[in-house]
Amino acid sequence: MIKKCLFPAAGYGTRFLPATKAMPKEMLPVVNKPLIQYGVEEALDAGLTEISIVTGRGKRALEDHFDISYELENQIKGTDKEKYLVGIRKLLDECSFSYTRQTEMKGLGHAILTGRPLIGDEPFAVVLADDLCVNLEGDGVLTQMVKLYKQYRCTIVAIQEVDPQETHKYGVIAGDLIGDDLYRVRNMVEKPKPEDAPSNLAIIGRYILTPDIFKLIEETEPGKGGEIQITDALMKQAQDGCVIAYKFKGTRFDCGGAEGYIEATNFCFEHFYKTGKAY
Ligand code: UTP
Repeated sequence: MIKKCLFPAAGYGTRFLPATKAMPKEMLPVVNKPLIQYGVEEALDAGLTEISIVTGRGKRALEDHFDISYELENQIKGTDKEKYLVGIRKLLDECSFSYTRQTEMKGLGHAILTGRPLIGDEPFAVVLADDLCVNLEGDGVLTQMVKLYKQYRCTIVAIQEVDPQETHKYGVIAGDLIGDDLYRVRNMVEKPKPEDAPSNLAIIGRYILTPDIFKLIEETEPGKGGEIQITDALMKQAQDGCVIAYKFKGTRFDCGGAEGYIEATNFCFEHFYKTGKAY
């Protein structure tokens, strides 16, 4: 079954400058926890214990976060502050962490390909940690997707309905409805203008990919700005085999920009921090 989860985290995070000048976007705190920790917790909840992170220059804080800090542990040992580290300790106990570096930021597709040596020849999940996903009603989004993978055994992308004026920010799909909230993907367009968009169903930062995606990414020509998009490789996969798009249950916050970040902060403060579930 799926055990591995890849976190591409090498991007520049330009929408959040200057905060992201010397600090990885994935380490931005939503209330008291960095974005990447929310993502790893979601992965662990879905049974994915082998965490692989694609980092880049200036991203060492990510590795330090998923490690023991002896001085700190020693300092708070036996005090009531120990509760603050319960969540991160659980991740360190139950997950393994491995890293590789993307030396040139050539897009999400390229970042995923950079993670290939950590993944090997097996299906794996991908989480873009700046998309914070929560579902207060039940299973987390990755858990929902892993269940679907068990049923369909093919690539699954998470989608949500977006305002038709916003399609230029996303990969957008066209597909045939095959079940509750499930589409078999027929077509996919990267960042279309509203008039060119095949629908308002946008791909967000959760994927389960079968390993043939790596070869398809290798065959993908760089597009705008020399970036290799994942959408192009997914499109080929959809044409040759099967890609399923899943309208997940829950809420997604785009924490790569100020508006979504503030919404996420208010939400997490209300539902996790104030209720004592934030550690
Ligand atoms: P984004 O499109 O959000 O790019 O990447 P970005 O550079 O992080 O942010 P902006 O748009 O400049 O503000 C989506 C995800 O893919 C990763 C990012 O770290 C983010 O998690 N990524 C993107 C890479 O790992 N490498 C890349 O070359 C590009």
